[in-house]
Amino acid sequence: MKVDYAKTGLEISAEMKAKALAANALLHSGEGKGNDFLGWVKLPSSIDDEALSVIEAAAAKLREKCDLVICIGIGGSYLGAKAVLEAMANPFQLLKKKQEHPTVVFAGQNISEDYIYNLMEAAQEHEVGAIVISKSGTTTEPAIAFRIIKAALEARYGKAGAAERIAAVTDKARGALKTLATNEGYPTFVIPDDVGGRFSVLTPVGLLPLAVAGVDIRALVKGAQQMEAATAEGVAFEENPAAIYAAVRNLLYADGKKIEILGSYEPQLQYINEWWKQLYGESEGKEGKGIFPASVTLTADLHSMGQYIQEGERTLFETIISVAEPKHKVIVEADEENLDGLNFMAGKRISEVNRMAELGVQLAHVDGGVPNIRIEIPTINEETIGGLLYFFEKACGISGYILGVNPFDQPGVEAYKKNMFALLDKPGYEEASKAIKARL
Ligand code: PA5
Repeated sequence: MKVDYAKTGLEISAEMKAKALAANALLHSGEGKGNDFLGWVKLPSSIDDEALSVIEAAAAKLREKCDLVICIGIGGSYLGAKAVLEAMANPFQLLKKKQEHPTVVFAGQNISEDYIYNLMEAAQEHEVGAIVISKSGTTTEPAIAFRIIKAALEARYGKAGAAERIAAVTDKARGALKTLATNEGYPTFVIPDDVGGRFSVLTPVGLLPLAVAGVDIRALVKGAQQMEAATAEGVAFEENPAAIYAAVRNLLYADGKKIEILGSYEPQLQYINEWWKQLYGESEGKEGKGIFPASVTLTADLHSMGQYIQEGERTLFETIISVAEPKHKVIVEADEENLDGLNFMAGKRISEVNRMAELGVQLAHVDGGVPNIRIEIPTINEETIGGLLYFFEKACGISGYILGVNPFDQPGVEAYKKNMFALLDKPGYEEASKAIKARL
């Protein structure tokens, strides 16, 4: 992986380099803020063959029985698996007559009645299983979805039959989901105490659903392990892509660039953007500080957001995940009539046109006052995506420490929950209920 910041026009000062390296050292020494949530730092290298085999065996059981697996979770218990799955899968797989792997779909990431109704209706045509994921085991959205899905599976397969089609991923001892999984006898995987939700994609939270969907989780972990080594304590600043990215985005922020737009010219990476937004938004957006993480998928969004990026408020910078080589080859053919005037492209690969779009947009945006960071990965596969995930996690920890916040808590996400419970008359919220209803 390469992090190219030439088009930001920045020189990274010795002071900022030292700050980034000190922040990285703090992540390794465990002496910084939020240090009880640093289990992700050495997570890739701690995953051994046996742990992967156990996950693969559980996935194989679900694959044997089910052609549809509903993965239930929200936030960090959803976005990592969704992001990797979208990056790896053929987006048109469902159009194929033969499905090689169970289809993995998601629930519990919203409270939409129509969403769950439509899912349950479509699920009737399939052999269904479920993976329910919640670290706290008490999150409302997945709990509601699981109550409905569990009841439907039990009605269809009986209690024992349903238990053979359900797996749980949760805390090792606490929470309603842990109790429920123990009582029902579901195979249960543990989210380590010291790994927060948004840093948990390389635990069973991500690995189990991905293994069910046929993703090579060994290659994913290998890519993360390589990136763990490439960004370890003691690696020189110039060699450490996570330190460079963290330093550059903090320099841009200090220069008034308050919004970072992550983008890619490969639509398969769209949910990597969503995962990244949670990672950076929840980690840095606190104490009245933090870069606002936004995203675009290109070139589609040039036809919606392109105008603003080019000429709107100059508070933006862009980070582009640039993919050097696609997996497949498609050529623009010559056309005798040339009515669309595209014969000048004849013989070129689509990826060459895409690359010229990327370079042209980069220069246009830089000319318009939008600095550009380019993160280049060689191609999209499990190994490069595993590396990318860990790269962003490490850079997030470094960046948060440079900013001076605790990157590993999320006190702000509680506010809406209190209001929602008060509005729903949850026992214990009587006073809050009266107060909030008076405000409506
Ligand atoms: O990053 C986080 O901690 C959050 O986004 C959580 O992942 C999210 O709120 C879901 O929590 P849980 O896994 O406890 O259901």
